[in-house]
Amino acid sequence: MVAVEANGSKPPLLGMRCIWGLVGRENELHMADDFLDKAAAGGAAFVLAGAPGIGKTALLHAVEAVASAAGRRIVQVVGAEFETDIGFSGLNQVLSPLLSDISVLASVHQEALRVGLGFGDGPRPDWLLVSNATVALLRHAASIQLLLVIIDDAQWLDRASATVLGFAARRVVPRVGFLWAGRPDPGGVIERSGLPTHMLGPVSDDAAAALLDLCSPPLALRVRQRLIVEAEGNPLALIELPTALSAPQLAATEALPSPLPITARLQALFEGRIKTLPRATQRLLLLAALDGAGELQVLQAAADGPELLEDLEPAEQDHLIVVDDVNRLVNFRHPLIRSSVVELSTACERRQAHRALASAVLDQPDRHAWHLAGATFETNEQVAALLDQVGQRMFCRGDLAGAATASTRAASLSPVPLDQARRLTEAAQHAAKLGELRTVSQLLAVVGQTDPGFAGSLGGASLAASLLIGGDGDVSIAHQLLVEALQSHPDPQNAEDDTLVEALHTLSWICALGGKAELWKPFSEMVSRLTPRAPVYLLLAHTVLADPARATATSLAHLDRALSRSGSETDLTSIVRISRSARFVDRLYLCRERLSRFVREPVDAGIIEANALRDLCLDDFFTGQWDESEQLARGLSSAEGQESRLLGCHARYILALLAAVRGDDNSNQALCDELTSWAALRTALSIQYTALHARALAAIGRGDFDQAYQWAAAISPPGKFATSVGEALFVCIDLVEAAVRTNRLDEAKAHIAAMREEGIAALSPRLALLVAGAAALAAPDDLATELFEHALAPPGTDRWPFDRARVQLAYGEHLRRIRSMSCSRLQLAAALDVFQRLGAQPWARRTANELRATGQVRPANQRLEPPSLTPQEETIAKLAATGLTNKQIAQQLYLSHRTIQNHLHRIFPKLGITSRAALRDALTYDKTRP
Ligand SMILES: Nc1ncnc2c1ncn2[C@@H]1O[C@H](COP(=O)(O)OP(=O)(O)OP(=O)(O)O)[C@@H](O)[C@H]1O
Ligand SMILES: [Mg+2]
Repeated sequence: MVAVEANGSKPPLLGMRCIWGLVGRENELHMADDFLDKAAAGGAAFVLAGAPGIGKTALLHAVEAVASAAGRRIVQVVGAEFETDIGFSGLNQVLSPLLSDISVLASVHQEALRVGLGFGDGPRPDWLLVSNATVALLRHAASIQLLLVIIDDAQWLDRASATVLGFAARRVVPRVGFLWAGRPDPGGVIERSGLPTHMLGPVSDDAAAALLDLCSPPLALRVRQRLIVEAEGNPLALIELPTALSAPQLAATEALPSPLPITARLQALFEGRIKTLPRATQRLLLLAALDGAGELQVLQAAADGPELLEDLEPAEQDHLIVVDDVNRLVNFRHPLIRSSVVELSTACERRQAHRALASAVLDQPDRHAWHLAGATFETNEQVAALLDQVGQRMFCRGDLAGAATASTRAASLSPVPLDQARRLTEAAQHAAKLGELRTVSQLLAVVGQTDPGFAGSLGGASLAASLLIGGDGDVSIAHQLLVEALQSHPDPQNAEDDTLVEALHTLSWICALGGKAELWKPFSEMVSRLTPRAPVYLLLAHTVLADPARATATSLAHLDRALSRSGSETDLTSIVRISRSARFVDRLYLCRERLSRFVREPVDAGIIEANALRDLCLDDFFTGQWDESEQLARGLSSAEGQESRLLGCHARYILALLAAVRGDDNSNQALCDELTSWAALRTALSIQYTALHARALAAIGRGDFDQAYQWAAAISPPGKFATSVGEALFVCIDLVEAAVRTNRLDEAKAHIAAMREEGIAALSPRLALLVAGAAALAAPDDLATELFEHALAPPGTDRWPFDRARVQLAYGEHLRRIRSMSCSRLQLAAALDVFQRLGAQPWARRTANELRATGQVRPANQRLEPPSLTPQEETIAKLAATGLTNKQIAQQLYLSHRTIQNHLHRIFPKLGITSRAALRDALTYDKTRP
């Protein structure tokens, strides 16, 4: 990889400059102007993609020249084919000119960059932290001078760098322009970057003719025409094809060679030229091609001959390379030349070259190990062990992809099957963390062949179990497999044993999926025994997720602390793992901000990202952001095919819930049927519960309360909160409402008693609202009003608008029954507004009917209450504005006068007034209001 800063002492080195100027790219130059303007203002990113030789690098030069002349600072990196896979090497190159200012960054960012880039020790940084640190450094540099980051041959950028630089480019950093160029690579760096991309096409025939005239000797007209056709608008072909023609061909006295695809033809052409070079020169070119960095000093050491520059000269004279004396580098004039040099070499020559390079870079352990691996044909434990260390270093620097590559290569060099199995397992573990389950299963298949006893080991069992639950496997088999492996693990209490901790995490997934109390027992026992201390996400899975209905105040406080902890940016995997315990106790909003980063910045974070998405769309559903919830669920279901069937189930669950609340019964039913059959085949009870939840909600929406009762009671019967069944909390009010509506008052009361006994209301404000709302629903008329008021009074429940509106609807229905029409209308109108805003059609219809029955007809979309007051507050404010005392208002609303006083305390600041006398003016009522 070659990197330089263009406005310093070093010259720009993005390949070789186009000496005759650029022809036929006026459109692109206009686009580049716009891009530079945008970059100077708010920041911008742009990708040029196109075939080899089409002129991407030439265009980058043109843009760079303009930017440089306008005084921008330029940092750049060029990806190199054949370069050893050294993590973050690309990023290192881009940032190195800026690192002198690293001390201005927050210490957490400084550390992340130092560790990630390999010049400091510290805890393994998360990719997101490295990305944020990169953005911070670029932002700082740009605050001093406009910055242009140029990345050429992006298709060869190492994957970790591509992820981070892609993140930074998508972030759109003010005053920074990101200009990428590379060959189209389906599924590769450019596609994954998600940046706006321009496909660079062929130059026009006129431009081709102009270029030919500039770069070739005078040609016979026929030959000139033929070359223009054959070059297919590819500038490299236009420049290079004439050089390969013989004198008779140039004179058109002899036919041109038969057509080949243009790249192959160019490559063949370069090969022809390389073959004519002296052996020593060819050997040096191979060394330069395989090393990537092209440092003369390394070549000198590897070649071990005195005449380095003399030996390079023939290639330089033939314009295949350029020797940069100032920076002491050798650059290939075009990447195709580098490919041709390697293509042309024999396996034996490549091995010798790698061996020589390995000895020349003894001071750089990663490069040394990779070259040794390149030089090794047979298995070799010594080299494999060196690659193990490379993998370990990559892992510590947060480069999982690099670590997986190193472990896989180490495995292929391992002479002993057991070592091979271990290394492949490590690679599979890294791949599993990246969410690449297909790679994991391929690796494991090899492991199985290498070492049949492997499946019994903890690492193997853990991976096999995650594959089983991510794919088509049975939950109880996965559970059994993993528990047995855990129990026979030699040191089952060591909290510092990564394999053990990961296996326990996988087990917690399996238990949650299985939805049965007995599955959790071995997990809980093992987590409680971990020493010195289990990771917080495992503890919370044990104390909250394993049985959310019975989470104690202490564990909930622990969860709250874990979710709100600041600076936890360093460990996003933990956040995602902790958030699982937050879902049934309504605390996902506490980690929303951090989870949302995955959505704002979709990156190569695999399974972690998908899990963040899963929790976000559930939170969106409960907090009434249904469009976003749907969008995320659809994103999640598109990840299903690639990685895990389980993700598809979560997506279907959310979509089924959305279909239920929107009254789309057909979709709801189809989705729930899919969930049910998926779950039945795998004994995944929790998935069945999700289907039952969505079905019960839909049945309530369409007024089929008997069916709703059956569905809800199938999750957990009335009077009971089944152990380890979180979904029982989700349907607590559905069960009571359905029971009340179908004259099952005893069952309703039994369930309310169970809620009280288990202290469900203490789990979250949402559950407190629902428990109190359920109690009011089942109460006799003379008690219900006070209970409904009690349910709706606590502040903060409007975070869950659908649930709150449901309680208001029930309250309005009750008030109408007891003929308190004006109060009923207030509740119903408020509920109707929410249902309409959310698009909860069945509930909106039901509320509108109810409102009509109170004698009020109002346009469907009319907003009645002043926006800043809750309906309850508005009622009180209105009554107070008519001159009633607190006591009189309290009597009218069945409340205590103290409650009215509290409400008024909240109302005055909301309306911006300080006295009762100002109330009338402050309230701007709709004239149609009764
Ligand atoms: N529009 C142009 N006018 C004149 N010369 C050009 C033009 N486009 C490209 N060239 C020249 O053609 C050759 C190949 O172009 P370039 O190296 O930019 O291709 P590329 O798209 O970057 O290919 P690769 O994908 O292999 O890197 C270079 O010598 C370059 O200077
Ligand atoms: Mg190029």
